[in-house]
Amino acid sequence: MNSIMIAPSILSCDFTRLKEEVEKVVDAGCDMLHIDVMDGHFVPNITFGPLLVSAIRRITDIPLDVHLMISDPKFYWQSFRDAGASMISFHREAVKSPKDLIDDMKKSEITVGFALNPATPLEDIQPFIQLVDFILVMTVVPGFGGQKFMEEPLKKIKVLKEMGITIEIDGGIKLSNAKKVIEYGADILVSGTGIFGQSDPGEAVRRFKLLG
Ligand code: DX5
Ligand code: ZN
Repeated sequence: MNSIMIAPSILSCDFTRLKEEVEKVVDAGCDMLHIDVMDGHFVPNITFGPLLVSAIRRITDIPLDVHLMISDPKFYWQSFRDAGASMISFHREAVKSPKDLIDDMKKSEITVGFALNPATPLEDIQPFIQLVDFILVMTVVPGFGGQKFMEEPLKKIKVLKEMGITIEIDGGIKLSNAKKVIEYGADILVSGTGIFGQSDPGEAVRRFKLLG
């Protein structure tokens, strides 16, 4: 079995020291950086655009995992690709007919992910699961860091696992519950406050990596 991949979410980092924060987790051996893009429309919060992705791209070569929590991924995804994103996920709930968008994205050198809110059933993505590279299962309602982990969506992991798809879990992941999520079959763990909210983010990454 592959070892667990850790994706620190920069949403919870100290932005007055962005470069140092990125270096702390990259030097500690994280596998990618998770960048939460929120548009104030799909979710009630506004965060970053492509400018920040390109700035981070200049700090590090590590894969950048851009999570689009936006209403119009069709219009914006290419700006994030051009800014240096390596992986881009968009939400099922935001796009009525995702097939063309997935096909378009797959023509690029982008790893494509489909994200699912906690309340969205797997049936809603059934026809598209094999078309994407990974599924991002949310374990909080998207919009903010530091929310309480929801257990219920973990059931989706087992079904996806049987289909052989790569699974990323996002929301409320801490050292205390990570083991359980790994046992369910997660491949990538996102953690924001569980890493950048700790006194030593590098040490938190190392401890996550020891779990699986
Ligand atoms: C929530 C975001 C998450 C968030 C995770 O809407 O998609 O990626 O940054 O933060 P924590 O780990 O603090 O729940
Ligand atoms: Zn996220």
